[in-house]
Amino acid sequence: MMSLPTWLRAVLQCLANLAQDKKVNMAGRLGVISLASFAATSLRICRPIPAVRTARNAFGSTKPLNGASSQGGSSIELMKCFSVQSEHAVFAPPISLEDHAGTRNRAKMTSDVGMDVENKQLIVSLKGGLRQAFPFVWLRDNCQCPVCFHPTAMSRKTYAYELNVDITAKSVEMSPDSNGVIIHWEDGHKSHFTFHWLRAYCFIDSKQDQYLDPKFDFWGADIDLQSFNFDEVLKNDGALYNWLTELVSRGIAVVTNAPSKVGQLHSLGGRVAFLRPSNYGPTFQVKSKVDPNHVAYTSGALSLHTDMAYYIRQPGIQMLHCIDQAEGTGGENLFSDGFKVAMDLKEDDPEAFRLLSTIPFEFSDVGTDYYGSFHQYSRHPTIRLDERGEVVSVTLSDHSRDPMLRAPLHQVQPLYRALNKYCNMLLDPQNVFKYKMEKGDIMTFNNRRALHGRSSFRVTQAGGRHLEGGYLEWDEVNSRLRVLAAQLNSK
Ligand SMILES: [Fe+2]
Ligand SMILES: [Zn+2]
Repeated sequence: MMSLPTWLRAVLQCLANLAQDKKVNMAGRLGVISLASFAATSLRICRPIPAVRTARNAFGSTKPLNGASSQGGSSIELMKCFSVQSEHAVFAPPISLEDHAGTRNRAKMTSDVGMDVENKQLIVSLKGGLRQAFPFVWLRDNCQCPVCFHPTAMSRKTYAYELNVDITAKSVEMSPDSNGVIIHWEDGHKSHFTFHWLRAYCFIDSKQDQYLDPKFDFWGADIDLQSFNFDEVLKNDGALYNWLTELVSRGIAVVTNAPSKVGQLHSLGGRVAFLRPSNYGPTFQVKSKVDPNHVAYTSGALSLHTDMAYYIRQPGIQMLHCIDQAEGTGGENLFSDGFKVAMDLKEDDPEAFRLLSTIPFEFSDVGTDYYGSFHQYSRHPTIRLDERGEVVSVTLSDHSRDPMLRAPLHQVQPLYRALNKYCNMLLDPQNVFKYKMEKGDIMTFNNRRALHGRSSFRVTQAGGRHLEGGYLEWDEVNSRLRVLAAQLNSK
């Protein structure tokens, strides 16, 4: 097995540090995850998992969510443990809506409060000797009193422009119930913070946001693709939650048994929020056309790509509903995990990774479709990193890569060499997952991660391959997941 990439080592180190607690109770009721098993499974996320392609129970041998059962049970236990087959983590948001409202009682977690006058900080001494500092300017900015914070809009009412950045407290004291701290400010104002609230927002020690910083399960040709029944996802919140968490962690899942007619993506997308339209309409029909305005509308093979590379904001999630499939051979969908292969490239050829993550290609699309004439144009590095150097999206599109390449001349050939290498690694048989969709299947995948393509197919006169495609945005998916998590856990 290859050596672990740096980011994975950092995650494991972090887990090892945390593992002293034996178990981390992520915001109480949401999920209890055994860190020992988390660490063990994290070690193998670069390795494909044994193949099961059949549309079996979506939850495999993972501990099922009761709410996802076909009976639509009412008691929902939102706990997905790590196991040999399941590597999906369910973490809580940093602080729940109840916590925001301050209505949840918490066990006392502190032994003392004090002030660091020189550094203008509140000091909270936790049992066990841990101390945490909270700058006064930040505390005043986040005062939870009704004058400063609207309790139902859950929104700050004060302004940054009027903030006294040098503010300090006159005194601090434990609240009468010993569950928090009262700060008496120099100007006579008074703030109250619960220790639970302070702990949830303890700066760099705050736990990561599971949706902004998701844990990815990598996959390859042998992926055990998870399937979710269309009707269940439509009717059952537990099933909806499980489908969406799979999209977060693995970035690909199939929804099965949808009716074989157009319009189903509106129903499925409506369970999240709304579809993201494009120049090709609210949804688009993938059929071979006589005068195609897009290569998708031919019967030829399509190289691995991400959709809408020519948009500045490329759609987050793609859904492809198989309404009719080509007879005989051909027409298979091909998928490759762009994140997994990007990490492989970083390990194998750091310079290629550097070039692809720093020099952008440009993309264009010109034509006329649903909303009239359009001319889309954008610029993306093949591998986009965030401010911490983590891969957040990949953009690859042979058919819409524009000739414009505003790169230093001496870097052009090395850049193409890097692109060529990345594409070949994506196409390595170990990395390509082939899936011939059946009528009623809806392939759903992270459009900024799971590259997709198709083999050529034969067009017959008696109809043929017909897919309806549509998009969702990650903001809507993450929002739905947060709301679902709160709802399901309050039952
Ligand atoms: Fe596509
Ligand atoms: Zn206030």
